[in-house]
Amino acid sequence: MRRPGRVRDQEVQEGIRRLCRGTPQARHGSLMADELVNLTIDGVAVSVPKGTLVIEAAKQAGVLVPHYCYHPGLPVAGLCRMCLVDIEKAPKLQIACATQVAEGMVVRTQSPQAKSGRMGVLELLLINHPLDCPICDQAGECELQDFTFQEGRPATRYSPDYAKRFNPVEDFGPDVLYVPNRCILCTRCVRFMEDVAKEPVLNVSERGDRAYIGIHSEGRLDHPWAGNVVDLCPVGSLLSKDFLHKARAWELDKAASICTGCSQGCNVTLDTRENVVVRVRPRSNLEVNRYFICDHGRMNYRWMNRGDRIEAPLVRRGRGGELHATDWDEAFDLVTSRLRGAGGKAVALVSPKASTEALYFVRELFRGL
Ligand code: SF4
Ligand code: SF4
Ligand code: FES
Repeated sequence: MRRPGRVRDQEVQEGIRRLCRGTPQARHGSLMADELVNLTIDGVAVSVPKGTLVIEAAKQAGVLVPHYCYHPGLPVAGLCRMCLVDIEKAPKLQIACATQVAEGMVVRTQSPQAKSGRMGVLELLLINHPLDCPICDQAGECELQDFTFQEGRPATRYSPDYAKRFNPVEDFGPDVLYVPNRCILCTRCVRFMEDVAKEPVLNVSERGDRAYIGIHSEGRLDHPWAGNVVDLCPVGSLLSKDFLHKARAWELDKAASICTGCSQGCNVTLDTRENVVVRVRPRSNLEVNRYFICDHGRMNYRWMNRGDRIEAPLVRRGRGGELHATDWDEAFDLVTSRLRGAGGKAVALVSPKASTEALYFVRELFRGL
């Protein structure tokens, strides 16, 4: 399905700027709020702006409330019930992702009732789950694995003869595969395509235990931001074809970096395996890219693995001489003396794709002449 006004590659940059301008503040509380609300979470006192959600306030208390459908970059859905917590004086367990803080509130995430509620949610999520972690690309960074290990039942109460629901793998788009048997129907992918990408090609099809994520009959998951659904998926249900079977999560080293695909400078994490970049993922920065990156930046990493990249400054000694690798001190001395010799006529042409730090450094270099 093609919607009028669809965001094209060249509009991605402006689209990301729009996202930043539209950062929802309700879940973190109004930035203008002068009124702080005091509450206690697992015995830790915190003060947060009025309107903050309990799940976000808990982070300030150093408590990660288990959750699946909640994501700070998406509208609140409140449907998975994984974030059940005990709130004093409330008649029953509440979901931390859709409950706002109140003065004097006392929240317990580890009470027997809260833990039992979440254990029940996990048990239901696992009824039809294939539990194929050994061959699942998400294993090692899977929130279903992590929370089940943390607070799920040690063993199933279902008969080994129970025939689990089965649906075949679907090809959703140029880089996205859908494995419905692993899907926990959190709808993060649906909400991303609808509310962030503004191209609602995904939906929840069927109902009850037959429900799965459907794709519009004429649609493809080929939006320039489509790859974000893979990062958003808390389990191994949406997979990147590019990353498929390249590495296990525990083999990866991570380095914080900046995307050089355009002048937006989205914050990214480079995942490397044995010093080879195998994956680029967004790193959250609410002022620049919020929680997302475009697919152009995501796929723009192969050049980093080329063996012929320049790894040290090169200087040419003497006219027409060979280029020699040197250290930065000699390189800067040479550049400074050449620039000074230019008699104030030097200009710097610097790529807008360079990091802010690199651009600042060039400016300082010229200022210091
Ligand atoms: S989605 Fe998670 S729990 Fe399910 S098979 Fe993959 S790693 Fe295991
Ligand atoms: S595919 Fe992933 S993100 Fe989408 S609903 Fe299923 S579990 Fe959630
Ligand atoms: S994370 Fe709160 S209901 Fe899903």
